[in-house]
Amino acid sequence: MKHVKSMLGVAAVLFALGGAAQVAAESPREDAMKEMGKSMKAIKDLISAGGPAADATDPAKKIAEIAAKIPDLFPQGSDTPDDEAKADIWQNWDDFTAKGKSLQDEANLLVSAAGGGDIATVGAQFEKVGGACGACHKAYREKTN
Ligand code: HEC
Repeated sequence: MKHVKSMLGVAAVLFALGGAAQVAAESPREDAMKEMGKSMKAIKDLISAGGPAADATDPAKKIAEIAAKIPDLFPQGSDTPDDEAKADIWQNWDDFTAKGKSLQDEANLLVSAAGGGDIATVGAQFEKVGGACGACHKAYREKTN
């Protein structure tokens, strides 16, 4: 299986290059997480302003979209010494991805709440979305703020 071996060689080189590039730039998952942070902030400000509830639709959709990609954002072997991802992620993969799915579900319920037009309902569901972020960070992120 000489062919397979040389393919693996290429993959290893690409991986090494990718690893080196990540030291300088933010990793894709950090960017994705920051995007979710921005969406959460936008919804929080909206709730403080008393609505309109429908304006929570787009940021809530964005969170659901990113949540669906969480398993892909944490590929095997992507742990680096200076990131905040705990190695437990890859040892408890089913639980980790379940927490991503739970965020996706709560964010989709937030999209529905926004469509319903009642800002109090949006506020209550926003708390649940925040809880889903926190549940994963508590278990799998080294810094829990
Ligand atoms: C399934 C697990 C999981 C869920 C759900 C999750 N996160 Fe994270 N988050 C992580 C992990 C792990 C890290 C550390 C990643 C790293 O350093 O490579 C992180 C890091 C972050 C960071 C720091 C990014 C940086 O630049 O270092 C922010 C901001 C963040 N998350 C926001 C959120 C928000 C907001 C939500 C909910 C809408 C959320 N996260 C949901 C696992 C999760």
